[in-house]
Amino acid sequence: FACLLSLLLSTQAIAARAVMPSLIPLPANMQRLPGEFKLAADTPIIAGDARAREAAGYFTGYVARTRGIRLESRSTSRRHAITFAIDLAASANPEGYRLEVTPNGVTVMAPDARGLFYGAVTLAQLVDIGTSPTARMPSVRIEDAPRFPWRGLMLDSARHMQSVNDIKQLLDAMALHKLNTFHWHLTDDQGWRIEIPGYPKLTEIGGCRIPAGDTGIDPLTGRPKPYCGYYTQAQIRDIIRYAAQRHITVVPEIDIPGHAQAAVAAYPTLGNVTGPTHVSAEWGVHPYLFNADEDTFHFLESVLSEVIALFPGQYVHLGGDEAVKHQWQQSPRIQARMRELGIHSEAELQGYFVRRLGKFLHAHGRRLIGWDEILETELPADATVMSWRGIQGAVDAVRKGHDVVMSPSSDLYFDYLQTTSADEPPGRPATIGLQQVYAFEPMPPALSVSDSRHILGLQANVWTEHMRTFARVEHAVFPRIAAVAETGWTPKDRKDYAGFLSRLPAQLQRYRALGIDYAQTPFAVAVEAVPVGDRMARVTLSSPLSLGEIHYTTDGRTPTPASPRYRTPLALRMPVRLRTTAFADGVPLADPVTRRLDAASFLQRNDEALAMCSQGLMLRLEDDGPPTGTRAIYNVDIFNPCWQWTDAPLRGIAAVEVHAGRIPYLFQLDKDEVNRKFHPASTSSGELEIHAGCDGALLARVPLPPAPAADGFITLPAPLPEHADVQTLCLFFTGDTRPTMWVIDNVRLIPSGSHAAAERN
Ligand code: ACM
Repeated sequence: FACLLSLLLSTQAIAARAVMPSLIPLPANMQRLPGEFKLAADTPIIAGDARAREAAGYFTGYVARTRGIRLESRSTSRRHAITFAIDLAASANPEGYRLEVTPNGVTVMAPDARGLFYGAVTLAQLVDIGTSPTARMPSVRIEDAPRFPWRGLMLDSARHMQSVNDIKQLLDAMALHKLNTFHWHLTDDQGWRIEIPGYPKLTEIGGCRIPAGDTGIDPLTGRPKPYCGYYTQAQIRDIIRYAAQRHITVVPEIDIPGHAQAAVAAYPTLGNVTGPTHVSAEWGVHPYLFNADEDTFHFLESVLSEVIALFPGQYVHLGGDEAVKHQWQQSPRIQARMRELGIHSEAELQGYFVRRLGKFLHAHGRRLIGWDEILETELPADATVMSWRGIQGAVDAVRKGHDVVMSPSSDLYFDYLQTTSADEPPGRPATIGLQQVYAFEPMPPALSVSDSRHILGLQANVWTEHMRTFARVEHAVFPRIAAVAETGWTPKDRKDYAGFLSRLPAQLQRYRALGIDYAQTPFAVAVEAVPVGDRMARVTLSSPLSLGEIHYTTDGRTPTPASPRYRTPLALRMPVRLRTTAFADGVPLADPVTRRLDAASFLQRNDEALAMCSQGLMLRLEDDGPPTGTRAIYNVDIFNPCWQWTDAPLRGIAAVEVHAGRIPYLFQLDKDEVNRKFHPASTSSGELEIHAGCDGALLARVPLPPAPAADGFITLPAPLPEHADVQTLCLFFTGDTRPTMWVIDNVRLIPSGSHAAAERN
């Protein structure tokens, strides 16, 4: 009986899940009604005015793209139709809407074009995914409106650029998530990307850098190969128009007074140092600041005038972040200017910049927004603060009466990796996984209810130092943006991570239908294998988000839902080729993972499987070659490049073979630079050293060649002393190798008596 009951209950649970549509973000109120609406090419669409036609256009475009159904009916009959209409009573919020699907018809009502558009987005998500000529939508009644008015995504187009089409694709995806603010980071030390007609050198010179390492050399001619690009005013207008059609406001950022190296390279008189300046090819915190001459303010106001003329939104972002003041401290001209202005500190001078340009914006009907450093001095009352160094900036700003957007680096920076998988692309390896993003609560607990109206919302930031392709931007953004969207839209008490996860597979199907290349790593099965004797491996499979059913094969075939299902750890006879995928509702969540397991596979570790020797600043960095095709990616602590193999199986091992590459050392670390450690070298090109534990005895020292081989790598055999009683190996390279550094790709243990060991000896 107990069995029967539990079967009954689980069947009911499945039925309940099947009938609730998988919408992201979850609506504020949703009620499932009996039946469904059938949609086919002859279904009439009724849209009475321009606002309704625009919303209907989104819906019909989505259905055409994802379902191949072209809604072309000319009928004006309201029978079995989909009706979009403005109705002032539909919601108290201009972004709100009311939607009803019944077997006889569909209505979407809203008081404003924005709400009507979001109703169309919800309606699009109600359409089932498939290929049949008739689509189905479950009957529902939805009353919906967003929790926050600022639901944002920032894209850094300075470090790496994206094409206009890529940005449009991102805007499309933002609309699918009901995001309404695109913050566009257009200027930085590494590039100036916005055309300003009076100042052509900003883009001619400031829009070009010579990338560090081999990337900056033309392999055919051996000459410098610049990385160049900017957005013309026509392209920017095109993007703004495209965004506006999706009810997305574009907030441009012109970063002052720091992050100014590209502008100063273009026009050195804007800066504080004599002699030429180049556009930076390095990442990190740079010293270049604008100077405070009247001519420089004239320049900045001219730039802002162009920005105001281009961008219709109320906000202009003036940056203000990470402006280290060394150049101002060292410049007699700045010091004289400060005396002239009656300013007593460099921090106050930054405040003068922000206030003066904020006033300029105000006089032109715009509002200033800036990173939380702008709080360090007195601010215009209407300035808005973007809290990125945690959330204290938000609390301080609100207490001073400012509006705030939450984008703390701890939770909403998408250049941080999302899993610990070895297949993550380059990035910052502190992990900000989907669950952490989802758990972020924009309302700081320290704020009172009446203060909370100052929290406008939240924003995810995509910094692109490590994203040289749009595919990497997509990997960083999807699916984490879905979590941001739900936090920004759904009432707090309706949020529920388990519910969100159960709706995510449908969102992934929408991504696939729209050609959005979402990150595979959160969905790809993680394989953990340990040897059991020489012949067997014990294999544990897991799905990083605990989503879906895991299936696997050992016969080389692609796993399907009919393949064996993984439930408990497997004992597999080696050698074996294991392939595995997680499925939700019979649909694979990611591409299959393939692992070959044999005795030798346990004697090799890639850098991702090695630990760092200390807690410095780990990054996941890409090789600077080859010019085309796949490049190696390395986990490396740039303060102390040293790799550790804990509990290495060293019994019977005669030698270690290290496969290493060499990449540019391209960081401006400002005050952190002193943390960079170099081990003394004893020969001209330095050595590879292997130690027994990180403070332990030297086991092997092998001289390095001056350069890697033609393929970009070196293979270094290092015989180990006999009978060394060692468990943990620490490996590092000696010497100050800047502007490059050696990095470990993989380490192999060579058993004594093996072919490879014999060759070495
Ligand atoms: C920032 O991350 N520098 C705002």
